[in-house]
Amino acid sequence: SRSISLAVIPGDGIGPEVVAQGLKVLSAALPQDVKLETEEYDLGARRWHATGETLPDEELERLKGHDAILLGAIGDPSVPSGVLERGMLLKLRFAFDHFVNLRPSKLFPNTASPLAGDPDIDFVVVREGTEGPYVGNGGSIRTGTPHEIANEVSVNTAHGVERVVRDAYARAQARPRKKLTLVHKNNVLVHAGHLWKNIFDRVGQEFPEVTTDYLHVDAATIFMVTDPARFDVIVTDNLFGDILTDLAAAVSGGIGLAASGNINPTRAFPSMFEPVHGSAPDIAGQGKADPTATVLSVALLLRHLGHEPEAARIEEAVSADLAERGTSTRTTDEIGDALAVRVAG
Ligand code: IPM
Ligand code: MN
Repeated sequence: SRSISLAVIPGDGIGPEVVAQGLKVLSAALPQDVKLETEEYDLGARRWHATGETLPDEELERLKGHDAILLGAIGDPSVPSGVLERGMLLKLRFAFDHFVNLRPSKLFPNTASPLAGDPDIDFVVVREGTEGPYVGNGGSIRTGTPHEIANEVSVNTAHGVERVVRDAYARAQARPRKKLTLVHKNNVLVHAGHLWKNIFDRVGQEFPEVTTDYLHVDAATIFMVTDPARFDVIVTDNLFGDILTDLAAAVSGGIGLAASGNINPTRAFPSMFEPVHGSAPDIAGQGKADPTATVLSVALLLRHLGHEPEAARIEEAVSADLAERGTSTRTTDEIGDALAVRVAG
């Protein structure tokens, strides 16, 4: 469409710094005739301290009206762990039914991987985003006693598994290698594991061109380090996907480059794009944060909204920037400027 209404949640720590660069590159990438309207939302630690609110329902309602959401990072040591994560980030993913948590990993030129040799890393993890142990279906009894029993039940519905598996097949189908790997642990987690495997096999019949593979999650971590080139598209549940995508980021240039999209492919609600990294309060405000992960998240945002050429231009700009970067360290702003100049052509 010829206009984009974007909700911006800068958040905490380095969030505002990296989001500023993401917006700079977004403006530079958009054609003149596409109007960008941004609305900033004050959410995160500051708001929680001031009002006790994480994500009030009125804000959730207002957010619904945008085409997409760009999120920096949330979380601060002054807020008890989990309050903002569950009260804001997870609340958004659930409320807007972001069932595809898309996390690409690509080893860009001139980027250090801790892996030996020059591994060919170019895969994408489709992490389920609305189920698993993240739904909060748990509880504890005899709490605080030596006999406490604490349960966190992983929720897996046929509907929820099928829609994310189908999305992953479609993404695999659209890529040159057309390969999809299901990652689970069905030798132990038999109920959920068999649901995933059965649906994976059944939906696969609709995609005869896609080659399939299954790995237990522990084996998948080995291959991600010893042979990452074997992966093209990976589909997995919410918790395995959380863990696997941190490993994926670590082997492909670090968390400073890892982008993500919390996507609702039905477009019933706005999708949300964010760097995989957190708020890094230890380096906040010093101009040290690498905004590249946010810039790459902006590329995912543009692709989701149908602006493929602009998305590709941003990814090419990042690739060229990394290939040509020298040894001197650059500030957050300098990296953003360099990328904006490149995408503007
Ligand atoms: C991520 C984060 C979140 C998650 C946390 C902050 C709730 O680790 O986006 O990967 O576990 O999904
Ligand atoms: Mn994570």
